[in-house]
Amino acid sequence: MRVLVLYGGRSAEHEISVISARAICKALSFKKYSIVLVGIGQDGSWHFKGSDISILDHESVVERESCVVHLDCNSGDLVNQRGDVVKESGFDVVFPALHGPYGEDGSLQGLLEMANVPYVGSGVAASAVAMDKQLSRLIFEAIGLPQTQHIAINRIDWANEQPSFISRIEKEFGYPVFVKPANLGSSIGISKATNQAQLLEAFAKASFYDDKMLVEQSVDDARELECAVLGIGNSVTVSTIGEIVPGSEFYSYKAKYIDDCAELIIPANLPSEVVAAAKDFSLRAFRAIGCSGLARVDFLLGNSQRLLINEINTMPGFTPISMYPKLLAHDGIAYHDLISELVSSALEKGKIK
Ligand SMILES: Nc1ncnc2c1ncn2[C@@H]1O[C@H](COP(=O)(O)OP(=O)(O)O)[C@@H](O)[C@H]1O
Ligand SMILES: [Mg+2]
Repeated sequence: MRVLVLYGGRSAEHEISVISARAICKALSFKKYSIVLVGIGQDGSWHFKGSDISILDHESVVERESCVVHLDCNSGDLVNQRGDVVKESGFDVVFPALHGPYGEDGSLQGLLEMANVPYVGSGVAASAVAMDKQLSRLIFEAIGLPQTQHIAINRIDWANEQPSFISRIEKEFGYPVFVKPANLGSSIGISKATNQAQLLEAFAKASFYDDKMLVEQSVDDARELECAVLGIGNSVTVSTIGEIVPGSEFYSYKAKYIDDCAELIIPANLPSEVVAAAKDFSLRAFRAIGCSGLARVDFLLGNSQRLLINEINTMPGFTPISMYPKLLAHDGIAYHDLISELVSSALEKGKIK
């Protein structure tokens, strides 16, 4: 069986994707799958990389190749610029090892649906809703999951009605607040504002990445909890609950990937009611959004021990030190078994369609 691994991509999480792909490919090859690699450049171009996964050890960003390919939606083949099917590029299933916009947000999933090829993970709608922090919060609200108070504001509305938004934020939430681009990840573009000047700065920073922003009440001294969900066939299982101790003021991009100062605690030391609630919320969120295969559900636990759902990620980090595979490994599912379960369940799902 041949697995097409797509990695890199147009999002700001390009480099994380390369690291995830490196680990995914090692596991696939351990399980004796054949691999076809296509690296997606930061400009969105697709580069055929062959089958030798050692190339990933030398790349931190996708390097351009002479063989640019695209997915032909009529045949489901990879074809070159002349329109010829690329020799050695046949595959049975796609593993989109891509994080963030254009990889995890339903757009790629739409392309794969059009080409009628099976792929790992959530479909178009679930991917899009999970990526959009406002839409996922609307679903969480609809199924009664507690979350932080927030508002979503478009860049244009902010420009036109800034004073009224500011007074509403100050009145309803008070400082500090978190300002986030609605559709991104890895903490990119997110800042914490403790006064009005910082709020303006934070909004400007976030709006560099998106047209829609979320402004949220801050959960002071929040503990950060995460749960891995694995959906294989009709069964959905939730993992042990883990805790991230960011080692900085919040779990910023720098804390996640540069300083590498965050500590992962598995299992988190929590009262049993909080563990039960986190597992229940994770399962309900996964089902309500309509996820498939995998997702990681993240929580904030405030001083009052009230558990708040923060977000759901449909293609969570897959590096060897990432929380998602670590939680499942703790529950007895080794990394390479996890990867092969996901691949075979994607194939099964493809057959049923
Ligand atoms: N309302 C909040 N209160 C306290 N901390 C928050 C809040 N929102 C976000 N954070 C901090 O910012 C980090 C990134 O925010 P998050 O919503 O998870 O975005 P991303 O999708 O980029 O991971 C969180 O892990 C947490 O450390
Ligand atoms: Mg997060």
